[in-house]
Amino acid sequence: MPSTEATHIDSTLTESRKFPPPADFSARAWVKSLDEYNAICKRADADPEAFWAECARGLYWFKPFGKTLEWNFPHAKWFVGGTINAAYNCLDRHLDGPRRNKAALIWEGEPGDSRVLTYQMLADEVGRCANALKSLGVKDGDRVAIYMPLVPEAAIAMLACARIGAIHSVVFGGFSSEALADRINDAEAKVCITADGGWRRGQIVELKNNVDEALKKCPSIRKVLVLKRVGNKVEMRKGRDLWWDELVPAQSPRCEAAALDAEHPLYTLYTSGTTGKPKGVVHTTGGYLTHVLMTMKWVFDLKEDDIYWCTADIGWVTGHSYTVYGPLAAGATVLMYEGAPNFPENDRFWQIIAKYHVSIFYTAPTAIRTFIKWGDAWVKKHDLSSLRLLGSVGEPINPEAWMWYRKVIGGERCPIVDTWWQTETGGIMISPMPGAIATKPGSATLALPGIAADVVTREGKSVGANQGGLLIVRKPWPGMLRTIYRDPERYKNNYFVQIDGAYFTGDGARRDQDGYLWIMGRVDDVINVSGHRLGTMEIESALVSHAAVAEAACVGRPDEMKGQAVVAFVTLEGGRKGDGRLRDELRAHVVKEIGALARPDDVRFTEALPKTRSGKIMRRLLRQIASGDETLGDTTTLEDLSVLAKLRDDEQG
Ligand code: PRX
Repeated sequence: MPSTEATHIDSTLTESRKFPPPADFSARAWVKSLDEYNAICKRADADPEAFWAECARGLYWFKPFGKTLEWNFPHAKWFVGGTINAAYNCLDRHLDGPRRNKAALIWEGEPGDSRVLTYQMLADEVGRCANALKSLGVKDGDRVAIYMPLVPEAAIAMLACARIGAIHSVVFGGFSSEALADRINDAEAKVCITADGGWRRGQIVELKNNVDEALKKCPSIRKVLVLKRVGNKVEMRKGRDLWWDELVPAQSPRCEAAALDAEHPLYTLYTSGTTGKPKGVVHTTGGYLTHVLMTMKWVFDLKEDDIYWCTADIGWVTGHSYTVYGPLAAGATVLMYEGAPNFPENDRFWQIIAKYHVSIFYTAPTAIRTFIKWGDAWVKKHDLSSLRLLGSVGEPINPEAWMWYRKVIGGERCPIVDTWWQTETGGIMISPMPGAIATKPGSATLALPGIAADVVTREGKSVGANQGGLLIVRKPWPGMLRTIYRDPERYKNNYFVQIDGAYFTGDGARRDQDGYLWIMGRVDDVINVSGHRLGTMEIESALVSHAAVAEAACVGRPDEMKGQAVVAFVTLEGGRKGDGRLRDELRAHVVKEIGALARPDDVRFTEALPKTRSGKIMRRLLRQIASGDETLGDTTTLEDLSVLAKLRDDEQG
C-alpha cells in the first residue's frame, strides 16, 4: 500500500515569473481566456455528469448511453449501456469527409526511412491486422501482448485489437525478457505481436530473441506474429511463429468494428507500485476515449492543420493516450519517430521538426535537460518556426529547464503546457489551457474542468496556500483506471484507503496564492527515473534474486539529468564482502531482470539496513544518506543506531 508518510513535502520553491498566453494564440484557441476556462469549470462543478455526458457525445456511439455515471465507491461505470468502438472512433468516423485523405501517421524510422499513412490507409491496415488476429483465434476479451519498436505497425496492432474487442497489453521494448514474461503471464495473453528487432542508436534491439526467451515460461501464448523490421536473423518456431508479411497483407481490409460496451476493457498497461510486482492498470473504452479526446482540444488546442508530435514510446501510457488514441480520435496528423534523439547526431529531433513542420511538440523534462547539456548550437542549426505549442510530461520540470525550453525551442513565442497525469488517470488532469491560463515555470497550473484535484493533509483536510500536502482527486472522472487486472483489492488499497472518499495519487503538491498547483514528486516508495516510474520493491526483488544478496533497499537520489537516480543499499549473504566486480554484476543483474532503465546508478554494500523496531526499513534515512543530506531527522525508532553510523562510514570509505 503506498504510504502517506510524507515528511519531505515542505516546499521551498519560490518562482515568481509568469507568462500570459500570447494574444494571437488566445485569439485562435479553443479556450480563449481565463474567464472562459472558469465558466467551463463552473459548469462542470455544478453538474459533472451532464458535463461529461456532453463531452462523450463528441464520440461516435453505436448505441447511445443511458446513465452517465454509476459510482459505487471506488468503482465507476461511465456511460452505462452505451456501445462504442475505439478503432471506429479513431478511424472510420474520419473516412466520410475530407480527413479520409489526410495524413494520420507520418513516421520516420531511425535509419532515415519514412512512411505516410492517410486515415484511409491506416484504416485498411488496421482492418487487415484485425482479420489476421481473428484468423489466429483471437476473440473479444482475449489479451494480446505487443512488444514492438515504435513503428506504424505498433499502433496498427493496438487499433486492431480494439477493433475486435481484444485487450492489448503493450510492453515497452526496453524491458527485459523476464519483465516481458511477468507481464504476459499476469495477463495470460494468447498472442504476442513483436518484430525481429528494432533500431536504437544504430544498434539492433533483439526483440524476437527476448520474446523467445520469455516464452519459455509463458504457457498461455499460442501464436507469435513477427514483423520484419531490421532483417536480423531470428528463429521462427513452427506452428507458433508467423511472419506479419505473410499473414497480414493477404487479409481483407474490411473488418467490422465490434460494438462494445462502454466499459469493455480497452487495454491493460503495467506500471510500478510500491509493493509487489507491477500492476496491470485497466482502462475501458467510452470514458477513456472521452477523456483523451477532450484533452486534445483543451490542452493541445489541436487544429485541423497541426502536425503533432509526442516523443513518448508506445510502451508507456503517454504513447497510448497521446500518440494513438487521443490524437487519432481527434483526427490529427501524428508524427512518430522510431529511434534515439542523438542518432546519427544530437540534432535529430530538431531536424525532424524542421523536415515535417511540426507544430505541437510534447516531450519529457529529462529529454529537455539532455538537450540543454548538448548545447544550443544543435538547435540553432534548424528552422523551428513551425512550432506553436510545447508540452512536458512525466516528472516535475525544473524552472530553468522550462525557461530554456521556452526560449531556445519555443522562440519565446510558444506557450508551454506542463501536463500532470499518471498511467492510472488515463489522460491529462492538471495542465494549463494554453490560450487561457498564464503559465509559471515549473507549475502544472490548474486542474482541467471536471477534475476535482485537491491538496490535503493526511487527515484529508485541504491545506492553505503554499503549504505542502498530498495530491488527491475527490470525484471520479471518465478516464480513471477501473481496476488492477485480476486484483481488485490492490486497486482499492493502492488508491482509495489513504484519504477518505478520494483517489490518492501518491504525489505531493502545493497550491500557491493564485491557486496554481506545484507537483513535488512522489511521497511513496516509487522512484521516477527519466519520467518512468520504478517501484523500489521491484528493483529490490531483482537484487535479492541474486545469490550473493541477502537484503536490499533502493531509494531515489536527485539527479540533474534523470530527475532521480536509483541508489541500492545491499547486504550480502554469509558476511561476504562486496567489491567493484560484484557491484557491476548486480547492476547487470537488475538490467537482466527488469531492463536498462532500472539499472542502479549506485550500489552500496552495508552490513545491515536501518530498520524501525517493527522491522520496517527506514527509507527516509537511506534517502538522506543517498543524497548526502546532513540532517537526518528523528531516529528514535531506529532499531540499531550503529547501523546508521556504519552506513555513513561506508559512505566515506
Ligand atoms: O509523480 C508524477 C509524475 O509521474 C507520475 C506518473 O507516472 P506514470 O504513470 O509513469 O505516467 C507518466 C506520464 C503521464 C506522477 O505520479 N509526473 C507526471 N507528469 C508530471 C509528473 N510530475 C510533475 N509534473 C508533471 N507534469
